Amino acid sequence: MTTPLLEVHDLQKVFPIADGSKVHAVEHVDIEIQHSETLAVVGESGCGKSTLAQLICKLLEADGGSVKLDNQEIRGLSTSQMRPHRAKMQMIFQDPFASLDPRRSVGYSVSEPLIIHGLAKRGSELRDRVARLFERVGLMASHMEQFPHQFSGGQRQRVCIARALALQPKLVIADESVSALDVSVQAQVINLMMELQRDMGLSYLFITHDLAVVERMAHRVAVMYLGQIVEIGKRAQVFENPTHSYTKKLLSAAPIADPRQRKERLLLTGEIPSPRWPAGEGPVRVEHVEVEPGHFVAKE
Ligand SMILES: Nc1ncnc2c1ncn2[C@@H]1O[C@H](COP(=O)(O)OP(=O)(O)OP(=O)(O)O)[C@@H](O)[C@H]1O
Ligand SMILES: [Mg+2]
Repeated sequence: MTTPLLEVHDLQKVFPIADGSKVHAVEHVDIEIQHSETLAVVGESGCGKSTLAQLICKLLEADGGSVKLDNQEIRGLSTSQMRPHRAKMQMIFQDPFASLDPRRSVGYSVSEPLIIHGLAKRGSELRDRVARLFERVGLMASHMEQFPHQFSGGQRQRVCIARALALQPKLVIADESVSALDVSVQAQVINLMMELQRDMGLSYLFITHDLAVVERMAHRVAVMYLGQIVEIGKRAQVFENPTHSYTKKLLSAAPIADPRQRKERLLLTGEIPSPRWPAGEGPVRVEHVEVEPGHFVAKE
């Protein structure tokens, strides 16, 4: 067994609220991602997916637990200590508009990480590198001079992917990064991401509420509920043998493309449950059982 690229252990984030209550957004989460592997994280709105992503890439500081990237503990590292590790991990978001500066050419936005990290001198060397990145994501070098508003949503997401790839990361964290795109454009961007994985050995932490996307690109799937992982396993294990009652509900509530596979719809009923707890209280920590090799399910 090789060492996983990412090892997250016992990760926790609690947001204190002014009235003394607390939101247990991420509770004792353990996940691993191997090199060249895609782990999808699924679950209802508010279950803690984005918080988990932000803790891993240190946009938020965790309250407890550990995050190892390439066998190096990164939780607790300061911004400057984090510098050498920054490039290994990049994030792409749902709204590419928000991550691109509207007043700068997209070529500039893609070159910026290279300049900041001192990886290319300004001038023709930098231009060539950025042009290659544009071509790599299915755009043309001539697109570099244009501005974000001059692109379609799919093209803008390609620009963001080019920017994320500039530093040759090992892990890309994608938070609902194809959710806003039309289905056909979404398929093209997913194909691109899978191609990049094959060619560059990238690993993905792929956050989505779209189970069709998960079926297409995930090697393993983690199901999150109220800040905890209730089921995790290979895609086929989770999709063909969903074991936790929440996973069963989640899968049966989702439209499935193949009508032969369509089961009776069992909608998730009632309000979305809240991870908010009064002062002094908190969630019960789930215990996992390995129901088949590599397939872990929380005891109910
Ligand atoms: N800064 C914050 N302060 C207080 N509560 C927060 C904060 N950020 C997130 N939360 C809460 O933490 C919980 C998890 O939020 P998070 O954004 O991680 O969910 P999510 O699974 O990404 O949801 P969605 O699918 O809607 O994006 C939610 O209850 C949210 O309201
Ligand atoms: Mg989110």
